[in-house]
Amino acid sequence: MKPAVGQLRPDGSLRHLLTLEGLGRERIERLLEQAQRYVCEIGGVAPRRSTLAGVTVANLFTEPSTRTRVSFELAAKRLGAEVVNLEVQLSSRVKGESMLDTVYTLEALHVDVFVIRDAEAGVPGLVAAHVDPHVSVLSAGEGSVEHPTQGLLDALTIAQSKGRFDDLVVAIVGDIRHSRVARSAWHALAALGVKELRIVAPEGLMARPGEFPGCRRIDRLDEGVRDADVIMMLRIQKERMSHTSLPDSDRYFAEFGLDPRRLALARPDAIVMHPQPMNRGIEIASDVADGPQSVIRTQVRNGVAVRMAVLESVIAGRSAAS
Ligand code: CP
Repeated sequence: MKPAVGQLRPDGSLRHLLTLEGLGRERIERLLEQAQRYVCEIGGVAPRRSTLAGVTVANLFTEPSTRTRVSFELAAKRLGAEVVNLEVQLSSRVKGESMLDTVYTLEALHVDVFVIRDAEAGVPGLVAAHVDPHVSVLSAGEGSVEHPTQGLLDALTIAQSKGRFDDLVVAIVGDIRHSRVARSAWHALAALGVKELRIVAPEGLMARPGEFPGCRRIDRLDEGVRDADVIMMLRIQKERMSHTSLPDSDRYFAEFGLDPRRLALARPDAIVMHPQPMNRGIEIASDVADGPQSVIRTQVRNGVAVRMAVLESVIAGRSAAS
């Protein structure tokens, strides 16, 4: 779903990041190259710059988050920005203040970049359509629609592990229907030229007809992971399902859980990804999640680097446009 508002400034620079759809291979590759410069090994000394000095970034998360919120905060601080984390449950939103009035208030307090996570589709785009021209909006996860920085960090993780995209088979497995992660990964990996993209899910969790054009649809896990180079497991999005549509956990693991036997069907050098939080023992076995083929912690590490690249990109474009 394309947002109502464009993401680019008239000069073609990136102003908002709401979706990876239509962003284009070249721009995605540039963001990944920029992010790679900020990758810091776990335990290493994190790079710091001052390119966002004088800039204020506000995190507005109305849905829970650990990785995305913390890594946006770290990314902004490592670039020299000031960061405001609005505790929505302690804010005037609970007195009925609208999202837009909250945004206008923060704009008056000189916020330059809004990082928004919301359960409702359309909220980041709505805010982007109403902010002042110098202000940027970055989606940190929009309902089941998109999670663009997750898509970028997933692509970066694959690039680091495989060094290429064009001859890869990537299997995205699990709750495709409700997954913003799957949608952003699909946009990124299709743009980067992945040879075969599979979406693998039981019927009730499969994408609706017409969604994910170009992807191979598979309804059995063994077939879905066979000879794959990359297996991207997805969390069951219980919060987006009614109790009646929730799959039984034991049955789901038996049919769609990634365990060592199923992993052995993939290529011997296949990597295992998961955006987290994980439901261990439901969509993935712990010995796979923590095993030698897992790059799940690398994905988290790459989140800060990707968010640094995106923040720098929108602010650099603003400076050039003014
Ligand atoms: N992957 C991801 O979006 O994690 P959080 O919900 O913890 O931010």
